[in-house]
Amino acid sequence: MTDGFTRDFDGRVAWVVGASGALGGATAQALARQGATVVLSGRNTDALKALAEEIGPQAETLPIDIADDSSVRAAADLVAAKHGRIDFLVNSSSVSVFGDFLSLTDEDWLNVFNAKHLGYVRTLRATIPHMIAAQFGRIVNVSGRGGQHPSRIHLPGGSANAAVDLLTKGLSKIYAEHNIRINAVSPGPIRSPRLAAMQGAGRPAKGPVLGDGQPDDVADAVLYLLSERSRFITGAALQVDGGGPGLG
Ligand SMILES: NC(=O)c1ccc[n+]([C@@H]2O[C@H](COP(=O)([O-])OP(=O)(O)OC[C@H]3O[C@@H](n4cnc5c(N)ncnc54)[C@H](OP(=O)(O)O)[C@@H]3O)[C@@H](O)[C@H]2O)c1
Repeated sequence: MTDGFTRDFDGRVAWVVGASGALGGATAQALARQGATVVLSGRNTDALKALAEEIGPQAETLPIDIADDSSVRAAADLVAAKHGRIDFLVNSSSVSVFGDFLSLTDEDWLNVFNAKHLGYVRTLRATIPHMIAAQFGRIVNVSGRGGQHPSRIHLPGGSANAAVDLLTKGLSKIYAEHNIRINAVSPGPIRSPRLAAMQGAGRPAKGPVLGDGQPDDVADAVLYLLSERSRFITGAALQVDGGGPGLG
């Protein structure tokens, strides 16, 4: 990335939710490399601390459970009070619940939606008022290819991804007047523990035409959508899926 790109991040404050995960972690590292202060959230305090140590003084940890609205609101208020603003919000959380439709329970579906779509609703609801106050905000919601291309074992996650893309589009229209841009990044298979879990649960072997992606491929797309290089883009869902599976 060039110096002009760095200017968009230097001194800015980014809240990365799901930073203890593979894609959120890579995104937090990429943001810090461009000069942003990164606030790392998730539930696993050890993983958050390890990442913060790797990143250095630009990183701080803020453990939250995004299933708990009061914890999310308190966290957003804390970041805004400490730093004076929240410039960037990256939502990159999920739980790995895979299985045949008839075997999945209400609890499975609720867990998935709480960790993803409803979790994103909570962080967005807590963060957007601070962005309105600043008349500046850039948000990326990580959704997933399963939101457009259903998978037999991933219908709860895929449904949550589709809901995230729709939420992103709707909010982008509502908050554009406050200089808040909101986009989604929709990854295909990315080399990560989550992909390994999906493959273990029987995900079909046919991969993308460009092969599996890496967490940095997603991080690069997120940073592009947070940067001013994408100044005319809001409400988009950028597919980072290696072109998807080949034609039969
Ligand atoms: N990896 C892929 O191939 C792939 C493909 C398509 C889409 N995606 C999407 O990309 C995003 C990131 O995926 P990933 O591979 O990085 O997944 P991951 O490694 O499993 O990370 C998931 C993150 O979500 C957090 N999380 C889950 N429940 C939470 C809760 N209740 N409160 C707070 N944090 C919570 C986890 O934090 P704690 O464990 O610390 O709570 C972790 O940081 C997800 O939305 C996923 O659906 C991934």
